[in-house]
Amino acid sequence: MATDNLVCEEGWLKLRSSCYFMSKMSTTWEVGRQECIALNSDLVKITRDEEYKFLRKLINLNNYYIGLSDLQEEGTYRWVADDTIHQIVKSWWREGEPNNSSSGEHCVHYHYPDEGLNDISCDTKFRYICEKPGHLA
Ligand code: BGC
Ligand code: CA
Repeated sequence: MATDNLVCEEGWLKLRSSCYFMSKMSTTWEVGRQECIALNSDLVKITRDEEYKFLRKLINLNNYYIGLSDLQEEGTYRWVADDTIHQIVKSWWREGEPNNSSSGEHCVHYHYPDEGLNDISCDTKFRYICEKPGHLA
């Protein structure tokens, strides 16, 4: 698909047909989601290894929430943006994750400094990554 003619608003980063916003503020997973929605986006849905690596490179000394949780059903991870089930990609996770530590971890974030994904309590305050489609200039 030709995506060169698509653009992102100021403050958003582009990869293929999507635009990404890396928050500066830290908040709970659900509030982060609401903030993405307020920006006409949602928490990021990662669909390809290229996208996973692109975002991982942008993580600068912080943890960032993504749009993945098993809040609906323990052990079944869904992308909040479209409610689709995520088939675990082993290489995206930190070693030993997701481990639902103390049976209280249902939200997923890029772990700093280990870089891979980790499940954590949804009340933990982290930065977050929003995604929305690019638009024609
Ligand atoms: C564990 C993670 C857990 C985190 C919670 C780490 O030590 O390895 O699985 O999510 O602690 O803070
Ligand atoms: Ca964990």
